[in-house]
Amino acid sequence: MPKLSLLDLVVADKRILVRVDFNVPLNEQNEVVDDTRIVEALPTIRHLISHQAKTILLAHFGRPKGTVNAKYSLAPVAAHLKKLLVKENGAVHFCNECVGPVAEKAIAGMKSGDVLLLENVRFHAEEETNDPKFAQALATLGDLYVNDAFGAAHRAHASTAGIAAHLPQAAMGLLMEKEVRYLHGELTHPKKPFLVILGGSKVSDKIGVIESLMKKADTFLIGGAMAYTFFKALGIETALSRVEADKLDLARDILKKAEERGIKFLLPLDCIATQEIKAGAATQNITLSKEFGIPLGWEGVDIGLATRELYAKEIAQAATILWNGPVGIFEIPDFAGGTRALAEAIAANSEALSIIGGGDSVTAVKQFGLAEKMSFISTGGGASLQLLEGKKLPGIAALTDK
Ligand code: ADP
Ligand code: 3PG
Ligand code: MG
Repeated sequence: MPKLSLLDLVVADKRILVRVDFNVPLNEQNEVVDDTRIVEALPTIRHLISHQAKTILLAHFGRPKGTVNAKYSLAPVAAHLKKLLVKENGAVHFCNECVGPVAEKAIAGMKSGDVLLLENVRFHAEEETNDPKFAQALATLGDLYVNDAFGAAHRAHASTAGIAAHLPQAAMGLLMEKEVRYLHGELTHPKKPFLVILGGSKVSDKIGVIESLMKKADTFLIGGAMAYTFFKALGIETALSRVEADKLDLARDILKKAEERGIKFLLPLDCIATQEIKAGAATQNITLSKEFGIPLGWEGVDIGLATRELYAKEIAQAATILWNGPVGIFEIPDFAGGTRALAEAIAANSEALSIIGGGDSVTAVKQFGLAEKMSFISTGGGASLQLLEGKKLPGIAALTDK
């Protein structure tokens, strides 16, 4: 069922409660290091400012576990937001409480076109337990609700889900709509060939995504630590590589299904192995086969050179590309070559629709300076995985049907 959109709401002079995901990395000086999530929420905020709404932002920051903790204050984020909105006429304020008389007073002082960010909703334990009384108390602060916090939409919390039932209209924000369009809409009938690149640490994290995308994808390229679980399942020596020993049957089952359905399910031909997970450690490029796997005492940390070439050819032929999970330990530059090579290959295929699924994959693409070359980069980690699995997200399900 399609949901109400921000664009369906009449917002002038009304108090609009907007849940945003401002869970961004800060440095030791409390400065925002990566403001993508804030920047991506600006279209919704700007729409509300220009339509003379009173914009009340609800957000969480970190995991303070239901107690007030200055380390998890949203004050630095408010300061950053103020800088981003300097050209807008409305003022950006911050209130050090998200509910009750203090918040009510701050809101009473707002003029149309103003923006107010309320303090971390997770300073209250009732947020994460989705306490109905707390959700109701948040709801009394506004007239209408907008959820633009895609990155937190997989959480059924008071400010992401519970609150919606207590307000007459609850709509999707513009970022939420964009995320759903790319991670769901565009992939419902994807342009073919549809290629999926999966990496990251665990098969078990991605099994739901694999099963859901096997219904649509033509080709899978497998990398990351998850590849070694497949190798082990095939009887190839994985030595010290990270393997999920209890997922071998699952891996064999996936390979069998892919074969039955005529899906091209590619595993690496070779890998970069090391004896030490650290920069500058000695490495070798190992060709993998049943007879010769990874030498004892060594660990696979990246896809090898032949694999990069093979995968790049597949990427060049694809019309739709979805990527989730780095194919190596990209945090260490020595082991980032495979992930970089794939990012470059995707960037070079400018004809294809390229969607980066979120989490560490997005961090990697940004680190390589290739974010601009991708069609879409998700702001969600867990939320994007769940959407790709075809699951209903509580933060969307709670909104008003169109
Ligand atoms: P995403 O957040 O994009 O969904 P994941 O969280 O599943 O990705 O996986 C990211 C992590 O996987 C990274 O921290 C990376 O270092 C790790 N990783 C990738 N390849 C390997 C490998 N061969 N061995 C161990 N860890 C790996
Ligand atoms: C995220 O950073 O992935 C989201 O903001 C959700 O945060 P959480 O995992 O602490 O719920
Ligand atoms: Mg991750």
